[in-house]
Amino acid sequence: MAKRIQFAQTGGSEVLEFIDVTPAEPGAGEVRVRNQAVGLNFIDIYFRTGLYPAPSLPSGLGTEGAGVVDAVGEDVTHLKAGDRVAYAQGPLGAYAEYHVLPANKVVVLPDGVDVETAAACMLKGLTVQYLLRQTYPLRGGETILWHAAAGGVGSIACQWARALGVKLIGTVSSPEKAVLAEQNGAWATIDYTKENVVERVRELTNGEMCDVVYDSVGKDTWETSLDCLKPRSLMVSFGNASGAVEGVNIGILNQKGSLFVTRPSLNGYADTRERLEMMCDDLFGMLKGGEIKIDTGQKYPLAEAGKAQDALQGRKTTGSTILLP
Ligand SMILES: NC(=O)c1ccc[n+]([C@@H]2O[C@H](COP(=O)([O-])OP(=O)(O)OC[C@H]3O[C@@H](n4cnc5c(N)ncnc54)[C@H](OP(=O)(O)O)[C@@H]3O)[C@@H](O)[C@H]2O)c1
Repeated sequence: MAKRIQFAQTGGSEVLEFIDVTPAEPGAGEVRVRNQAVGLNFIDIYFRTGLYPAPSLPSGLGTEGAGVVDAVGEDVTHLKAGDRVAYAQGPLGAYAEYHVLPANKVVVLPDGVDVETAAACMLKGLTVQYLLRQTYPLRGGETILWHAAAGGVGSIACQWARALGVKLIGTVSSPEKAVLAEQNGAWATIDYTKENVVERVRELTNGEMCDVVYDSVGKDTWETSLDCLKPRSLMVSFGNASGAVEGVNIGILNQKGSLFVTRPSLNGYADTRERLEMMCDDLFGMLKGGEIKIDTGQKYPLAEAGKAQDALQGRKTTGSTILLP
C-alpha cells in the first residue's frame, strides 16, 4: 500500500483525504514515478474548489513532482527504472507516493538539479520559460509589469527577467514580499494593496507604461493591468488567484489603446515532446548557469497538503512550496 491525497467532492481544504491505495501498474507508454518531492501550485486549488472541473471524482490532485522511475510500461524507450526524473503535466494525482503518467511528460533530470529543486520549479519555471521567451519573446530593454512577484512563479520570473535585461515591475502585498522580489531582481516593486498601481507605473516609466503585463491575479487586477500598458502592447492573463476574469467586453481593448490579449497555459505551449524538451533545456540551463536559484520557501509533509494549500491561498507563502511524501 502507498499514500495519496484524493478528494471526492469539491470545496475547502477539508475535502482532501490522505488515504492508502495500491499503486497502479503503468500501461503502454506510461511510467510509475516514486515521488520524492511534489510541487504545490495554485492550479491545484482551482481543481479542489471546482473552478476547474476534475475529469472525475474521487480524484487525485497535483501535476508536478520529481523522484525516481519505479516501473516502466511497454513501448517506453527514453526512461528506465532508477532514472531521476521530473514532470509538470499529465493526469491529476502527483500528491502521492507513487504516480503513473505518460512517459512523454517525464524528463530525466540533469546532474546538478536535485529532486526538491525540480519539484519546486518544473511547472513554475516552464511557465516562466514560455511567458518570457515565447508568448512575448523579450529581448532585453523592455519594461514589464508582473503581479504577485514574490510568489512561486513570480520569484522565478524576477530572476529570469533580470538575466534577460528586462525591467520587471513587481506587485506585492507587503514590505517583506517587496524585499524578496527586489532581491530576486525586480527592478521596482509596488504594494498593490496600498498604492495606486497605474500612477506608480506611470512615474516609474516616465509616462511610457509597459510593453507587457503578466497578470495571474485575475479578477481584482484585470482592468488595472490594461491601464498599465503602452498602446498596441500585450496583456497576458495567465491565472485566477483572486477569481476568474469574466464578462469581458472585447471593446475594452480598443478603449485602452488597441491592445492585444492572450490567455495561455503550460499545456498549450509544452504540447509536444520536442517543445517540452526545448523548454526544459532552457530552464535547466538557467539553473545550472546560476541565473536562477529556486527559493523553496515552504516544505510540508504530504499528509499536510491541505494546510499547505491554505497557506498558498491565504497569501502566506513566498517562493515555491513542496510536499514531501
Ligand atoms: N497559465 C499557466 O500556464 C500557469 C502556470 C502556473 C501558474 N499559473 C498561475 O500563476 C499564479 C501563481 O501561481 P503560484 O502557484 O506560483 O502561486 P503564488 O504566486 O505563489 O501565490 C499566489 C499569489 O497571488 C497573490 N494574490 C493576489 N490576490 C490574491 C487572492 N485574492 N488570493 C490569493 N492570492 C492572491 C498573492 O501574492 P501577494 O500576497 O503578493 O498579493 C499570492 O501569494 C496563479 O494564478 C496560477 O494559477 C498559471
